[in-house]
Amino acid sequence: MTGRITVRAEALLRWAATVLEKAGASHPAAVATAEALVDANQRGLDSHGVTQLHFYLPGLKAGTTRGDAEPTVETDLPAAAVVDGHDGLGPYVARFAMDLCCSKARSAGAAVVGVRNSTHFGAASCVSEQAACQHCIGIVVSNSDPGMSPPGALGPVLGTNPLAVAAPFRHEQPVSLDIATSVAAQSKVVLAAREGRAIPAGWATGPDGQPTTDPTSALAGAMLPMGGHKGFGLAVIIDILAGCLTGSALSPEISNDPAHPAPQRTGHLLIAISIDRFVTAEHYGSALERLAHTVHTAPRAPGTDRFLLPGELEASAARRRQAGGIPFAGVTASLLAEIGTTHGVPFPP
Ligand SMILES: NC(=O)c1ccc[n+]([C@@H]2O[C@H](COP(=O)([O-])OP(=O)(O)OC[C@H]3O[C@@H](n4cnc5c(N)ncnc54)[C@H](O)[C@@H]3O)[C@@H](O)[C@H]2O)c1
Repeated sequence: MTGRITVRAEALLRWAATVLEKAGASHPAAVATAEALVDANQRGLDSHGVTQLHFYLPGLKAGTTRGDAEPTVETDLPAAAVVDGHDGLGPYVARFAMDLCCSKARSAGAAVVGVRNSTHFGAASCVSEQAACQHCIGIVVSNSDPGMSPPGALGPVLGTNPLAVAAPFRHEQPVSLDIATSVAAQSKVVLAAREGRAIPAGWATGPDGQPTTDPTSALAGAMLPMGGHKGFGLAVIIDILAGCLTGSALSPEISNDPAHPAPQRTGHLLIAISIDRFVTAEHYGSALERLAHTVHTAPRAPGTDRFLLPGELEASAARRRQAGGIPFAGVTASLLAEIGTTHGVPFPP
């Protein structure tokens, strides 16, 4: 496909769920996974949208990701639990675990759920925002396959281990921070390589450990940590929380190579805090309004745009894409068309 195409979210959701089912996912796992991927596209997080099928499908076909797996609760305490994902699709496993976490938080005030034996769950905010929809503050961390190094290392050492926090705000859009611990998510480099774009300086080093703007060289090298030692330190902590504490693999042990599928044993740690067990809804709402007002009205140097809260960019992308559909560059549309042809579900739908 040469030109850019646009697809409505509803059609994309049906398409992605059908592809996943044809690849062996159960209906609920296929729908939950498709919803997470399309939600990411809808909010402008294209690196974690339906192009992730390119990574998810080989594991499903090889049976290293178990499309029919049902998560089970292995440890069940009043304010904590450990869930085993049994190598199931990450978005389905994480959704189950966050629902459990929120229901415990509603009775205990706050709860923490560790998840073992999961797989890549897409954009972390799909999981943290699930808590915000249930009047909780949601905190989510996950480890991921190795893609980041401390400056000076040759090749990746740890995962780009993401962190997301979502806090309910006004009606529909939470304040939602969703970040890799690298300067940028590695999937953005995958997308740039596919679309033939250079990446910004400062994102990555090549296999020789030297800075690069060539996405192919960056993929053979490693992403740089966000804020140097701070991002790297945070990635270490996330591996402790999501890996050591849950009984999952550590990020250097996780494989996400579509050419050689293997069980990922990815770990997540989820926290839900029930706001109204701490303060009244009125207090929380008015305090957050004051915070938002301070950010939005902060004095600006000439030429500086309005300051945004985390999540506002994605909320405006979602409004635009709800009205106008989700755009795909020609080369990405071709990849999806290839996936569609292989599974007998034509793309664009
Ligand atoms: N599942 C995994 O293993 C995995 C691993 C790494 C990253 N990821 C995902 O990759 C995605 C992208 O991560 P990233 O680090 O490249 O994100 P990013 O650098 O684009 O940062 C995104 C965050 O910064 C906020 N933001 C962006 N511009 C802003 C501005 N001008 N003012 C205020 N806030 C602003 C956004 O609202 C959002 O919360 C995330 O969804 C993350 O969960 C997933």
